[in-house]
Amino acid sequence: MTIDPSLLRIEHVSKAFGGVQALSDITFELRAGSITGLIGPNGAGKTTLFNLISGVFPVNRGRILFFDKDIRHKKPHQLVGLGIARTFQNVELFETMTVLENILVGQYTRTRCGMWGSILRFPWVGEEEKISYRIARELLDFVGLSDYADQTSSDLPFGWQRLLEIARAMAAGPKLLLLDEPAAGLNIVETLRLGDLIRKIRDQGVTVLLVEHDMSLTMEISDRIVVLDQGKKIAEGPPRAIQENEGVIAAYLGKPAKKAEG
Ligand SMILES: Nc1ncnc2c1ncn2[C@@H]1O[C@H](COP(=O)(O)OP(=O)(O)OP(=O)(O)O)[C@@H](O)[C@H]1O
Ligand SMILES: [Mg+2]
Repeated sequence: MTIDPSLLRIEHVSKAFGGVQALSDITFELRAGSITGLIGPNGAGKTTLFNLISGVFPVNRGRILFFDKDIRHKKPHQLVGLGIARTFQNVELFETMTVLENILVGQYTRTRCGMWGSILRFPWVGEEEKISYRIARELLDFVGLSDYADQTSSDLPFGWQRLLEIARAMAAGPKLLLLDEPAAGLNIVETLRLGDLIRKIRDQGVTVLLVEHDMSLTMEISDRIVVLDQGKKIAEGPPRAIQENEGVIAAYLGKPAKKAEG
């Protein structure tokens, strides 16, 4: 018997919006404990794939397997409960809440009491709250935002809001973390720190699927790269091979790929 180390399998997945074929017959898998870069020009279908994996939209065709279970018909909150957390291309925080509160909200899926328990104050809530606060503070420390716990999240500089969003996603205790352009709007120093943070997340055993336009970051930290262009997978492999792939270079330069000769 062979052991299959795949955590997530995308099998022949297609998605159309009206006449726009956003994804066509996409197949690849994520190995547990890896960082996979998902790249491609604007409109390639990267965010759409995130939306399918996280249950925002249903797939039209194909299957998505998480730990070998078909997750196609699960709702977003169920998928968070199963261990799939994400961040958004346009940061989506609870803007009027503090930094710490944003992370506490992210933990609701893994506490026994949940949101209603908190409101109705069951007996075990006090103990759970203490644990939630401790974990939230640890996560703030993990992303380097400890000093800003009580600040309103919308007052944070943009780059830090992205870090907070990652901390909030981690608060759900995910096994798979989907990051949609986490380096967008970050300066060089912040981007380097982000790279270290994503590696630390992977080292904690969380599998990462990273959508990113910053190629040096993506190539540096990814174990494997999948390339989409106009809804199709055009390449997959280790970063070095992808950087030299003619089809990939052509897609980014907007020119047709040269056909292989012979
Ligand atoms: N909710 C939607 N309704 C209609 N069309 C959509 C929707 N979401 C995505 N699309 C279309 O699907 C295609 C893929 O878009 P998607 O946002 O997935 O690309 P992307 O690879 O994330 O691009 P970018 O790098 O610009 O973020 C585009 O043509 C887009 O206009
Ligand atoms: Mg996108």
